[in-house]
Amino acid sequence: MARFKFPGEWGALKENVPLTKERVEEEAKNLLAQMSLEEKIKQMSGDTPLLRGLIELGVAYNRRPLPAGENVRLSIPALRFSDGPRGVVMNHSTCFPVAMARGASWDTNLEERIGDAMGVEARSQGANLFAGVCINLLRHPAWGRAQETYGEDTYHIGEMGAACVKGVQRHVMACIKHFAANSIERARFRVDVRISERTLREVYLSHFKRCVDEGVASVMSAYNKVNGHYCSHNRHLLRDILKEEWGFEGFVVSDFLFAVHNGEAANAGLDIEMPLAIHFGKKLTRLVRRGTVSEDVIDDAVLRILKQKIRFAQIGEPGKYALQAIVSSEHKALAREAAQKSIVLLKNDFVAGAKKRILPVDVAHLSRIAIIGKLSTKPNTGDRGSSMVRPPYVIPPLEGIRAAVPQDCEVMYSDGRIIRKAVDIARKADISVIIVGHTHRDEGEYLFTKGGDRDVLTHKPHDETLILRTVAANPNTVVVLMGGSAIITESWREKVPALLMAWYPGMEGGNALADILFGKVNPCAKLPCAFPRSESQLPFFHKHARSIKYGYFHGYRLMDKQGQVPAFPFGFGLSYTTYAYNNLQIDPVEINPNGTLRVSVDITNKGNITGEEVAQLYVGYDGSRVERPVKELKGFSKVHLAPGQTQIVNFVLTARQLAYYDEQQGDWVVEPLTYTVYVGPSSRTEESLSVKFRIRG
Ligand code: BGC
Repeated sequence: MARFKFPGEWGALKENVPLTKERVEEEAKNLLAQMSLEEKIKQMSGDTPLLRGLIELGVAYNRRPLPAGENVRLSIPALRFSDGPRGVVMNHSTCFPVAMARGASWDTNLEERIGDAMGVEARSQGANLFAGVCINLLRHPAWGRAQETYGEDTYHIGEMGAACVKGVQRHVMACIKHFAANSIERARFRVDVRISERTLREVYLSHFKRCVDEGVASVMSAYNKVNGHYCSHNRHLLRDILKEEWGFEGFVVSDFLFAVHNGEAANAGLDIEMPLAIHFGKKLTRLVRRGTVSEDVIDDAVLRILKQKIRFAQIGEPGKYALQAIVSSEHKALAREAAQKSIVLLKNDFVAGAKKRILPVDVAHLSRIAIIGKLSTKPNTGDRGSSMVRPPYVIPPLEGIRAAVPQDCEVMYSDGRIIRKAVDIARKADISVIIVGHTHRDEGEYLFTKGGDRDVLTHKPHDETLILRTVAANPNTVVVLMGGSAIITESWREKVPALLMAWYPGMEGGNALADILFGKVNPCAKLPCAFPRSESQLPFFHKHARSIKYGYFHGYRLMDKQGQVPAFPFGFGLSYTTYAYNNLQIDPVEINPNGTLRVSVDITNKGNITGEEVAQLYVGYDGSRVERPVKELKGFSKVHLAPGQTQIVNFVLTARQLAYYDEQQGDWVVEPLTYTVYVGPSSRTEESLSVKFRIRG
């Protein structure tokens, strides 16, 4: 096996047994004691010389890990940074579905396996720090980088992010990003997010706390400001909350190039300037000499970095890191499984005049299929910014479908540019499949001309006409959407009998789509963000905002509050079978403010095919003294059910999870109150079972 050679591998530690926390601390302190001020400060920034670094970022971005803090004299290896989250961005790595798609799997076990695979591929290419865990909350679907995160709900993002961290950290350090409230792309370098302390903590930070509790090694500070202070200079975020209140023991790295404005960021709690030493080099040394930054601040930062380096020098499965591990058959299969489990079936009506639903298509009896839309042939894996992965191949929808139909089935294709041609082939076909949506040109990280936030949330008018005219010509039509978050489908949705959301499904996306269309796989994904009927159901968003207020409500919480019905609710997704929920139990029905209770429900697969169902638990607050959501997600669980099988699904709920943040007290308060628990297949309470319990005073 060809083994990757790690430059500057850790030489100071010889022991194989994992060190205790105390020993790690001791080792780190020993090293720190041997370092000069200059050496310490060298730990706190990228190692590449400025000019070379800038050139490299321009011409060879993401080709190799970016080193930070190597010390040859003391044999301290560099951090070697690489990015994600849809895979490892270096060379030709496995391209998984984007994080938003994986959010739709609601499958923490799968996400942990993907994290593990990305960790192996990162380390096999020389990285030891993987910044591919983006857990910013999707406040508005226009956000260009929506695809990099898992969805709109704090609890759900926290669970998915923590699962990814767990998998990644079996091999390398993980870095969660962007701390915090980063969710407008065009204005990211300067926008000031004005936010109340309660909203910040409950809505925008809880999922970061969840990953910190999971033991994440590193946090990346965001570009934007929060309440007047740039995030890399935000003492309240970095010191008061992250390091002191949450007890985060890892290190904070800056977002790249424009996130640090001067060396005083160190005082605020920034530990590393990435990827080059612009402010955290000689300038920071001068600030220390002048007393503007104390040496204690530097020592604290360096100790944090050293501790994680030592901790992770003990972690890993050395036999696994090899060039063959990259895009291995196992990882390809995982990419396909992830796509299968992230494609959401949004609509599946009965075929006109027939007894069956339109999907799955019975491939054995298919003579002619029409595939329409230019995205059918494109390797549409997502944006082309820092998260771009370059897999060795991508299976676009047409290729996946062609490979799945019998040889004698005629596959007709039209790119849809000339609607008349598309309509012609649709008319001749048993079934037509239209693939429409977005690409990196419409949304993504903003890089000069491409990407950025979406201007409109509908499809382009041409695509809407294409859909309507095709369905009129052949009522047996399935629409497949591609994109990084919600799309408004109002003007055509009612006319279309079957609808799938495929997101950006990764390198195996075309195969996975065919698996779903032809029933090889039963869809089980559910939306990680509500799909609105119109923009009026969403909070205010301005892609060029200089200052913006982030309120307590967004997504399903806002729609619930305003009594508005979305096109497709948060947590919604159909299957080729049906599930029944029965026998909701809660025990006990009254608990103390530090108590725990168990909730259980029976789920039965009522159909005749095997499936996986995501049961969701929401909690509502009856008569709270503060403004609360109508209900919010507090648990979910995925079960595998054979036809006719019933399983009991259990949830554990703590009173603490239901606390609100009291700004006056500066603390979390568990209210003595009656709470309603809803358990069901989506956030639609009408479809859920409910039960009440009390928390005592
Ligand atoms: C992005 C980060 C990314 C970094 C390094 C920045 O532009 O905002 O998410 O980790 O580049 O690639």
